[in-house]
Amino acid sequence: MQDLGNIKKIMDTKYLYINTIGCQMNVYDSGQISKRLRPLGYRITESLDKAHLIILNTCAIREKAQQKAFSFLGRLAGLKRKRSGLVIGVGGCVAQQEGYKILEKLPYVDFVFGTDAIARLPSIIRKIESKKDRIADIKISEIINDSDYVVDSYTEKTASFITIMQGCNNFCTYCVVPYVRGRERSRSPEIIIDEIKHLVDSGVKEVTLLGQNVNSYGIKERLCSFSELLYRINEIDGLLRIRFTTSHPKDLSEELIYSFKNLEKLCNHIHLPVQSGSDRILKRMNRKYTKDQYLRKIDKLRDICPDIAVTSDFIVGFPGETEADFKETLNLINKVRYDSIFAFMYSDRQNAPAADFKNKISYQEKKDRLQRLLKIQTDISDKKNERFLGSTQMVLVDGLSKKQSCIDSEERYSIQWTGRIPSNRIVNFTQNGNFNSRHEVLTGKMVKVVIEKAFSHSLYGQTFNPHFS
Ligand code: 5AD
Ligand code: SF4
Repeated sequence: MQDLGNIKKIMDTKYLYINTIGCQMNVYDSGQISKRLRPLGYRITESLDKAHLIILNTCAIREKAQQKAFSFLGRLAGLKRKRSGLVIGVGGCVAQQEGYKILEKLPYVDFVFGTDAIARLPSIIRKIESKKDRIADIKISEIINDSDYVVDSYTEKTASFITIMQGCNNFCTYCVVPYVRGRERSRSPEIIIDEIKHLVDSGVKEVTLLGQNVNSYGIKERLCSFSELLYRINEIDGLLRIRFTTSHPKDLSEELIYSFKNLEKLCNHIHLPVQSGSDRILKRMNRKYTKDQYLRKIDKLRDICPDIAVTSDFIVGFPGETEADFKETLNLINKVRYDSIFAFMYSDRQNAPAADFKNKISYQEKKDRLQRLLKIQTDISDKKNERFLGSTQMVLVDGLSKKQSCIDSEERYSIQWTGRIPSNRIVNFTQNGNFNSRHEVLTGKMVKVVIEKAFSHSLYGQTFNPHFS
């Protein structure tokens, strides 16, 4: 009887393939999508051919991300022709922006759901399965419902993202986010803490709190401040590390700066996107701070937390950016000496006011500026990473590295793991042994690693006598 039950279960299992493009918030949303669909019998598959339901979670932040979404969708047309029962859905920021237009343009897409519609997915899919209808749901709500999020404890990861707020009120002139994610709204501290406790119970050791501007957490709803939330999360037993992203420089409070000193679990890393070093361009971007104000915040951060790692985002070739403006940006990079950065060529976005600005910069010029900027930063990152050579670092292990194992010339067998140190640097490291010795599983453990090599984007080392937390 039990065997028959199992066979029926296997036959009833439907497979869900999710392709996630874009930021950490989309990664978190994709996790929510899979949790929402588990009660409908859907299990995740890595194989497109096995999938009964394919969901593409899209990003609209730059044109390239949007193109990536449509090129993936293009590949699905043939698949749908071959397999009539296949259901295809498009979610995320492009879905929010394009809505019904996606259904009109791509007849093989069954449903489109916006950034706020994840909680309604089960009913959308049930309707499609029963009526063979096509649906677009792009409603955005003014408030966050606690029931919009599934809190459950299933995870196999060491580190997890958790969205603490949605939307943005800042309206930077280049940015599509306020149009596709709506206005700022925050989840209650109790629900956030409950979700983190569940994650910790299932083995998670590190959380990254997500929001477009975490500094305005809770303001609209009169909840606690973001720093107070951090203090409460710091109390959670079993949690080892806390990170957050992103902080808008104009709103970075003293209270938050002091949290880096006062909270032992808060990692010494802040991502503080500056976008440009030119006051003229910052004004045209509607960033609401000057280069000097930004630099003063960096000084304060380093004053309070001397070994804090600072990273940032840059846009090159914003409309009207002159060579002199660009040199101001290079000057800022040389002054701050970031630990690492992300830099992007400006791209026009639908609804974002800068799309109508005059004096657009040519593609070639943008590419050239991007390369000049990255070259300066690569030298800085190299030098900063070299300072770790010979030091011993505490690495929280995420899992096996891509290069998982090797046998050296003396027939020693070693395993390579990957993890991060508090400043968010990736460390790949080797755990030595021989064929007869057993290797401890290090995933989720805090391990002492001696750093032997430094690259621009990662460090490499060895663990000789792992210390476990
Ligand atoms: N063009 C290029 N980069 C952009 N970003 C946001 N909008 C645009 C755009 N239109 C970058 C910013 C932001 C990061 C997430 O993406 O640097 O901080
Ligand atoms: Fe976009 Fe500016 Fe909001 Fe960041 S702060 S999401 S760049 S509008």
